[in-house]
Amino acid sequence: MTGSFLEQIGGAKGCRRLSTEFYGRVAKDPVLRPFFPGKSMRCAINEFTAFLIEFLGGDEDLTQDRWWLSLRESHARFEIGVAERNAWLADMSATIDAIGFDAESVGDLRQFFEQASLYIIGNEATEIQNRDLASRWSAQRDLDRAINAIRAGREDEAMELATRFRSRPSIFVGLLARLSRSGRPDSLRFVTEEILGDSSVISHRFGGRSLLHYASGSGCLEIVTVLLQQGVDPNALDRGGHTPLYAVANECGMESGPHVARALIAAGADVNAHGGVTRATALHMAARRGHVAIALVLIEAGASLDAIDSKGETPVDRAVNCRKHEIAKLLADH
Ligand code: HEM
Repeated sequence: MTGSFLEQIGGAKGCRRLSTEFYGRVAKDPVLRPFFPGKSMRCAINEFTAFLIEFLGGDEDLTQDRWWLSLRESHARFEIGVAERNAWLADMSATIDAIGFDAESVGDLRQFFEQASLYIIGNEATEIQNRDLASRWSAQRDLDRAINAIRAGREDEAMELATRFRSRPSIFVGLLARLSRSGRPDSLRFVTEEILGDSSVISHRFGGRSLLHYASGSGCLEIVTVLLQQGVDPNALDRGGHTPLYAVANECGMESGPHVARALIAAGADVNAHGGVTRATALHMAARRGHVAIALVLIEAGASLDAIDSKGETPVDRAVNCRKHEIAKLLADH
């Protein structure tokens, strides 16, 4: 067989088909269905499709439904043992057989998922025969190791592993975001040097978000400052239609939160931007999360107290509904 494995299985369309048909089986599986309590499998299908395209080296724009970088991390919150792994593999094997890939691809896919599912339940000694899949799997495991190293504070190892992903811009942005979030000085220096050394880092995205969204959400003032100095648009929208200012108001309970909000506003962030499904402003989110100091910065910068979200609620309504009494009082007093 010539061409990449991705081409062999029908490109991005083949990945979507595999994911859709697989989750069609999972939806009826008594062992696996309880892991997916929602009515629809849409998110799971999208995430798994994005993973397959990313894993097989496909178009970055089609990989933005990812949420997690590391396979181990994405499964850590579930209790997955031998029974669950066997059910998963049986559904996957039945899907691969039913789709009617060529015989070689069927064999390679089966072997790959057999090994990968063992890895998910803790088996490190996985071996993949297909060369293309084997080298991609080795990179996938490096990614898991990189995330582990970041979490454990092993900065040298984390940075060395991260550099291996420079040629994979989406994953690289995801890793830089995680290094920024760690807040460790060497990691921040590394992220800064990467931004200054390769201007494309600022425009790529992981999970539909830019590095400015991630750094804002995690209150990383150093990286936010560097990105703004490099001319990154402070009003850029993520996949959900939200700005970096929304990210800091929604996600950042750290002391640096108000400083990040100020830096974004000074660079031209629109304090009254309201996008996404809920049409919420940054002030709605600060109110909802009880981020008082950020709310003060937003109000000082002219954030509207009368802004209405898609439910017709103002920021003070949000604060009251979410029992954030301090911020409800602050908003009511203004
Ligand atoms: C061992 C059996 C496995 C079980 C029981 C299992 C179960 C799950 C569950 C419950 C989710 C969460 C879905 C959600 O959050 O809505 C998930 C997500 C996911 N699984 Fe598995 N899984 C298994 C093996 C695998 C394997 C072998 C792979 C890849 C080769 C894989 C790739 C993924 C991906 C990419 C996601 C989405 C993570 C993201 O947000 O990016 N899983 N899995």
